[in-house]
Amino acid sequence: MQTILITGGAGFIGSNFIPYFLENNSDCKVVNLDLLTYAGSLDNLSDVENHPNLIMQFLESIFMIIL
Ligand SMILES: NC(=O)c1ccc[n+]([C@@H]2O[C@H](COP(=O)([O-])OP(=O)(O)OC[C@H]3O[C@@H](n4cnc5c(N)ncnc54)[C@H](O)[C@@H]3O)[C@@H](O)[C@H]2O)c1
Repeated sequence: MQTILITGGAGFIGSNFIPYFLENNSDCKVVNLDLLTYAGSLDNLSDVENHPNLIMQFLESIFMIIL
């Protein structure tokens, strides 16, 4: 099973993309990494919050990933 990482998934674009992706990719896991700023809300993902292929991870502060 593949896993994809979504950042900002509780925001406008991500919270529309994640349910769509889960619905159309039952063989993939989704990790949503979000800082939950003013722009993000768990209410936006209430339809999929208990989806078995969705893992939510929330940040407590901004950090940087250098690739
Ligand atoms: N009703 C509408 O049409 C509507 C509503 C909102 C936004 N928009 C548009 O959508 C676009 C923006 O959407 P978006 O989804 O890119 O942004 P967003 O601002 O809606 O969401 C950003 C998400 O990223 C998270 N975030 C912020 N910093 C982070 C960090 N360092 N690490 C992890 N997560 C972090 C926030 O908590 C939030 O959940 C803009 O073009 C805006 O105009 C449209």
